[in-house]
Amino acid sequence: MVTARLEDKINILVVGGGGREHALCWKIAQSDKAGKVFCAPGNGGTAADARITNVDIPVTDFAALSDFAKNNSCDLVVIGPDNPLADGIVDFMQEKGLTVFGPRKEEAKLEWSKAHSKQFMLDHKIPTARFAVMHDFETARKFVFENDWARVIKADGLALGKGVFVCDTEAEATEALSAIFKEGRFGAAGSTVVIEEKLIGEELSLLLLIDGKTVLPLSACQDHKRRFDADKGPNTGGMGAYSPVRLYDLHKDAIEQQLIKPIEAALKNGTMKFQGMLFAGILVGVTHGSRESKTAPIPYILEFNARFGDPETQALMPRLKSDILPLLWASAQGSLAQEKIEWYDKASVCVVLSAQNYPESSSKDKVIEVGELPADAFVFHAGTKLDADGKKLLTNGGRVLALTALGDSIEKARENAYKAIAQIKFEDMACRSDIALKEVGQCLST
Ligand code: AMP
Ligand code: GLY
Repeated sequence: MVTARLEDKINILVVGGGGREHALCWKIAQSDKAGKVFCAPGNGGTAADARITNVDIPVTDFAALSDFAKNNSCDLVVIGPDNPLADGIVDFMQEKGLTVFGPRKEEAKLEWSKAHSKQFMLDHKIPTARFAVMHDFETARKFVFENDWARVIKADGLALGKGVFVCDTEAEATEALSAIFKEGRFGAAGSTVVIEEKLIGEELSLLLLIDGKTVLPLSACQDHKRRFDADKGPNTGGMGAYSPVRLYDLHKDAIEQQLIKPIEAALKNGTMKFQGMLFAGILVGVTHGSRESKTAPIPYILEFNARFGDPETQALMPRLKSDILPLLWASAQGSLAQEKIEWYDKASVCVVLSAQNYPESSSKDKVIEVGELPADAFVFHAGTKLDADGKKLLTNGGRVLALTALGDSIEKARENAYKAIAQIKFEDMACRSDIALKEVGQCLST
């Protein structure tokens, strides 16, 4: 019998098929409390790992996923991606009597509605960029015209990371409003927009494990969202990440006081309910208007996500010393106060290997060769699959693999990561060459 404290072995179903889910399955499978580990739908990496079983059910089929979890005695279901959370997968599965790691639909609204998330921050005095919420083109255009601080335009709903326009001029902001309201580029996700003041600074990702009462922060990470070196090119799902982050250490107390404490207070007084992973996108910087006035940079919360980050998870899992399964279990059960999170005293650097033309197009059916990797390097698959014989590994997506290496410092981890990448080959493979370079103080000139 399973108890509130995880004492028996349990079977686990992880929902999703990206690098984040591979990294989660990889870590879960190392737990001595893990029975069978299933991944739906999984990818080539989860298929090739003997400890993980892929299940051919899409993340959108809540009924089939629930039936599978019940029929295979899964005591815990872990939800990876944002869309099923926004569509209420946790509510659905809980109604079927399953124990699920992840927030319910209403709690996940912190991710699927930027207007809701900004109002939450305002209500709880969490520092964030000044903003306004608009529902039609004309009012929004007038607002942008009358307020010279209003230059960041965001579609309210989920838009695959593409619904944010960081503009310099009124004309650009108007163009963004037109794309959202007039062209309807984001469908229903763009029926409302959030207009924000532009901030200038450095970003970091902080993941907070929450069980409805207790907040346990994970080690901080930094993502690299732009496709090309020196942060050029289009935004992507993420081209690499590293952990820990010096910028976080410099602002740890402010983040504790202005983000974590208000969340703890809101959970305590019932104005917030949340179970799962709350991911805060933080920008340490100044407002665009004050950039010349030598104002000291402070942490602003840009956004919340209601899940593990990708590729942050691929950077974090190899650094995590604690068994992850009791942590996920305690979050779902409301018993996190008994847990703590320990990290190896190592840095990690994760470099995403993508298709050459990602994010415009993806790679399909190209053979992937992975040579002998050093012990401190790990490959997490995203857009991969096994061929019909289950022997060859083939490309099957835009972001294909992520290579994470550990080292005694970020510099060493970075060196190890790029050395290990030489062992991986597929036609039209591409990656950024500057992941974590800023952290080691060798910023490329822009
Ligand atoms: P979001 O999805 O809200 O995190 O926005 C995506 C990206 O847009 C962030 O990672 C930032 O790089 C950028 N961004 C968002 N909001 C702002 C802002 N107010 N000022 C400057 N950049 C922003
Ligand atoms: N790395 C950003 C995200 O997971 O949304």
